[in-house]
Amino acid sequence: ASLLWWQCFVKGLFFSFFNPQVVNGIEIYSMKIDSKVTSRFARNVITSRAVNRGNVHKEVFFDVELPKTAFITNFSMTIDGVTYPGYIKEKEAAKQEYEKAVSKGQTAGLVKASGRKTEKFTVSVNIAAASKVTFELTYEELLKRQFGKYEMFIKVKPKQLVKDFEIDISIFEPQGITELEAEGTFITNDLQNVIKKTFSDKKGHISFKPTLDQQRTCANCSQSLLDGDFTVKYDVKRTTPDNLQIVNGYFVHFFAPTNLPQLPKNIIFVIDISGSMSGREIEQTREALLKILDDIRDDDFFNFILFGSDVHTWKEKLIKATPENLDEARKFVRGIDTEGMTNLYGGMMKGIEILNAAHEEKFVPKRSASIIIMLTDGQPNVGISNTEDIRTHVKKAIEGKYPLYNLGFGYGVDYGFLEKMALENKGLARRIYPDSDSALQLQGFYDEVSNPMLMDVELHYPENEISGLTKNSFKHFYDGSEIVVAGRFADINQNSLTVDVKGEGANDVLSFTTQQDAEQTAKAFQEQEYIFGDYIERLWAYLTIEQLLEKRTAATGEEKENLTAEVLDLSLKYKFVTPLTSMVVTKPEDYDNQAGIADKTTEGIDIFTTFAFLQTHCLVDGDPHFIISVPQKEDAICFNINEKPGDVLSLINDPVTGITVNGELIGDKRANSDANSQNTYFGKLGIANKYLNLKVTVTSEKITIQNGNEKTAFTWLDSVTLQQEGLTLIINKEKNLVLSMGDGASFVIVLHQVWKKHPLHQDFLGLYTLKSHKLSEQTHGLLGQFFHPIDFTILEIHPGSDPKKPDATMIIKNKELTVTRGWQKDYRKDPKHGIDIPCWFVHNNGAGLVDGVHTDYLVSSLF
Ligand SMILES: *[C@@H]1O[C@H](CO)[C@@H](O)[C@H](O)[C@H]1NC(C)=O
Ligand SMILES: *[C@@H]1O[C@H](CO)[C@@H](O)[C@H](O)[C@H]1NC(C)=O
Ligand SMILES: *[C@@H]1O[C@H](CO)[C@@H](O)[C@H](O)[C@H]1NC(C)=O
Repeated sequence: ASLLWWQCFVKGLFFSFFNPQVVNGIEIYSMKIDSKVTSRFARNVITSRAVNRGNVHKEVFFDVELPKTAFITNFSMTIDGVTYPGYIKEKEAAKQEYEKAVSKGQTAGLVKASGRKTEKFTVSVNIAAASKVTFELTYEELLKRQFGKYEMFIKVKPKQLVKDFEIDISIFEPQGITELEAEGTFITNDLQNVIKKTFSDKKGHISFKPTLDQQRTCANCSQSLLDGDFTVKYDVKRTTPDNLQIVNGYFVHFFAPTNLPQLPKNIIFVIDISGSMSGREIEQTREALLKILDDIRDDDFFNFILFGSDVHTWKEKLIKATPENLDEARKFVRGIDTEGMTNLYGGMMKGIEILNAAHEEKFVPKRSASIIIMLTDGQPNVGISNTEDIRTHVKKAIEGKYPLYNLGFGYGVDYGFLEKMALENKGLARRIYPDSDSALQLQGFYDEVSNPMLMDVELHYPENEISGLTKNSFKHFYDGSEIVVAGRFADINQNSLTVDVKGEGANDVLSFTTQQDAEQTAKAFQEQEYIFGDYIERLWAYLTIEQLLEKRTAATGEEKENLTAEVLDLSLKYKFVTPLTSMVVTKPEDYDNQAGIADKTTEGIDIFTTFAFLQTHCLVDGDPHFIISVPQKEDAICFNINEKPGDVLSLINDPVTGITVNGELIGDKRANSDANSQNTYFGKLGIANKYLNLKVTVTSEKITIQNGNEKTAFTWLDSVTLQQEGLTLIINKEKNLVLSMGDGASFVIVLHQVWKKHPLHQDFLGLYTLKSHKLSEQTHGLLGQFFHPIDFTILEIHPGSDPKKPDATMIIKNKELTVTRGWQKDYRKDPKHGIDIPCWFVHNNGAGLVDGVHTDYLVSSLF
């Protein structure tokens, strides 16, 4: 059975918020994405320049998405000519720095976001009026060859029109470029010829530089068209299967033979049919399997194993893909239905047994590539359900003979387990994202492994000459891919190398020998001006780190410690942000010494943390009292709403994003006979997004998330980070929770716990909004109406009835109101005592300030 969640894991105590400041008044006047690719190794620099056109200081956001396969290598901010560089630190050290910043009184924000192929990097900084800031981010990655092409993609989303916008990509491939494509998901017919593309021999160049007008969604519109993926694909000439390059004591070897006959395959599909697969998942699985059956070649062998509570096999043996058998298989696939629990162990063992028998009985060809593809959406719970035990048995049964590919469908899988099991068996794990294209994702994976050309590929380098060799043996080589091996010469002055490659082809054993020296490499590179000298060394470091991290996934004990030390050492030396390092940026002192931090976790999901000083926000807490901050006045307005326990108030209602927040009032334990002095608090909050069919109910006891028909509940004793398309939820045990919905509108709910035996009070909740600019201009509600800019003037401050609290006249919304200077409590930093926020108090339930009268905001129920 599966939960539909992206990921759910326990986190430490790290928490807090990010700055909600609206970016109005900030102009991003330049954004450049500059990429240089040399021999598949890409270095991308994103530079964004902004100026604060307002007359008060403002928060500027730098918000980009990078490919998951990339490592950040540098980040800096330049404010009014002063550069604040980022430093790569060991994660522990970075954490301490973070905590130091927090202890100095700054609150911290945790932004975790991840798409299918990207992860997000967010930093913000406060700059003074008329000041300029430049952000510069560098990341590097090795472009992988798939389906015969290297692909690079750049996420483009400037969010506003940018005067000087440019993507500039230069590619240098010493083997020669044979094709070059560039396309963008946002490119309209008009923009098509703004992409300039040229290539000749070894050099390729792409430039995309739309003018302000070309960026507009329509004439005179201020919205930007630029929102999507910009993809570049290319391939290189292959006169020989090998290409060797040697520079400064390092070498890289690319191996991709073409025009070899394909090996026949023996494929076992091990498919989860447990109850949680029912509905769309099983339909998409059937659809994908039917398409795959169309692509199976007639000399292939195959079989299906289905596992629910029991294990069902289509045939007792591997079956040849004759037209009749394929027809029968199609009937079988159409009839696949769900049942019961998840006997993953039984399914795996049956599949391996059938494959082993086929080899032992020799009824599959000797030269054929055997593959196991397992698909599951849940966690094993029948047969052997301990994942360590399953791994042990599977590894023993496969004995390295076939690669195992594990596909994890949806968010309910134990992806760590699938990944470990696949890596231990020379395969890999992949996520299948539940979406309308899930069937295509499944098919796409099959396509990657459907054309084996070589088996047991071994790349031999003279042992005594080389150190730090990356992986050099591969179970299969698939058409359209490429094998990359890099290493270091033991003697840095060595400048030539001979390589032997052996592999089993469809007809016989193939071997290739290549020789290369540094001079030949230098000659091949001579015409290019944009080589970064150490690119082979960095490519080697990138590949080494990537492979060590992979190995570390399944390692334990001392081996894991050793691998960790090795990765850390290399990450620090080459300044890569990996799962073991963080990048720390300390922001200028005058705005509270803010710091930003960039992190990466093992699954390729990034955690990016920005420390942002809490500034402007709207909140409701306590009695319930509302505080509306007015940034341009550096001041706040507050009011109370007095209603009865059981009443539900509309706090936020945005018809455009579909987000609503309602709060239900509770009173003290003992009802007060005088209704007017009855204290009320929020005991229950309901946050919903009707377009995403999501409902989150928060009480002082538990947090319930309803996603369609799927329900998940947590208590305040959990520490949870949970991410799903359209929803991020972080529960900081017994303190608060941070919730982001849809495009990023975020809320913080603070839990107020009172002493259990308190005679009067009970636990209650406070609501704080962050990123309210993500909501539309039509947002309304007791809090929502104040997300639009609001201004006021204070006149005639004079003594009031309380000598410590002067009265004044406030001009707001063309009305004159009598207001009183007071304080209200903000409980985010100090949930026990709160921090006093000075504000102008509007009497009588906010009369004159809130639109209409306060009773207009009563609604019938939480949702
Ligand atoms: C990082 O970027 C800054 C700003 O461009 C530059 O001064 C610095 O040298 C870079 N650091 C590295 C290690 O490349
Ligand atoms: C754009 O704005 C200009 C100046 O305000 C106006 O003359 C022109 O008609 C507008 N064009 C469109 C298509 O609305
Ligand atoms: C770990 O490293 C130490 C020191 O280099 C070495 O002695 C030990 O054999 C290594 N252990 C494993 C399991 O690799």
